[in-house]
Amino acid sequence: MEKNIVLIGFMGSGKSMIARELGKRLKAKVISTDLLAEAREKATIHEIFRSKGEAYFRDLESAIIKEVSLCKGTIIDCGGGVVLCKENLKLLKANGIVFYLQATPQVIYERIKHETHRPLLKASDPLGCIKELHQQRTPLYDQADFTIDANDASIEGPVVEILNIMK
Ligand code: S3P
Repeated sequence: MEKNIVLIGFMGSGKSMIARELGKRLKAKVISTDLLAEAREKATIHEIFRSKGEAYFRDLESAIIKEVSLCKGTIIDCGGGVVLCKENLKLLKANGIVFYLQATPQVIYERIKHETHRPLLKASDPLGCIKELHQQRTPLYDQADFTIDANDASIEGPVVEILNIMK
């Protein structure tokens, strides 16, 4: 596999789990932009947002995209906000096929309501916050090469669909 498989989508859409499974089945390297950011900063995403702010995190994320988009045959699991910078998507598309894992705000909310590590959802009304961000970002996610339905609790459907497209 020459091209990268790039996964984008909202927090909780299943990118990391699907990326790991694709990596196993294709025997390909898996890279998470969030994990790389944490390793570089020696801090969690939450701490980076808190101590340095979102703008700093976005710059770091873009620098990471610049590097990882040069990889070949790699599964790239992107943070949910990667699409906020136009250049990121352009770079990722240059060497990869971009898949948008689409899930509704309600499904996302049910999946992540008990999690505490996502700084953008630490709001008094997380579902409202998800709906608003989801609406803002949908036109950006829609720029992916393919949209994959990721509403089901099982990752098997999306994994098989991506593998078939990559054949
Ligand atoms: C973000 C998504 C997170 C992480 C950060 C910001 C976003 O990644 O990069 O909290 O703006 O949607 P996941 O999508 O992997 O949760």
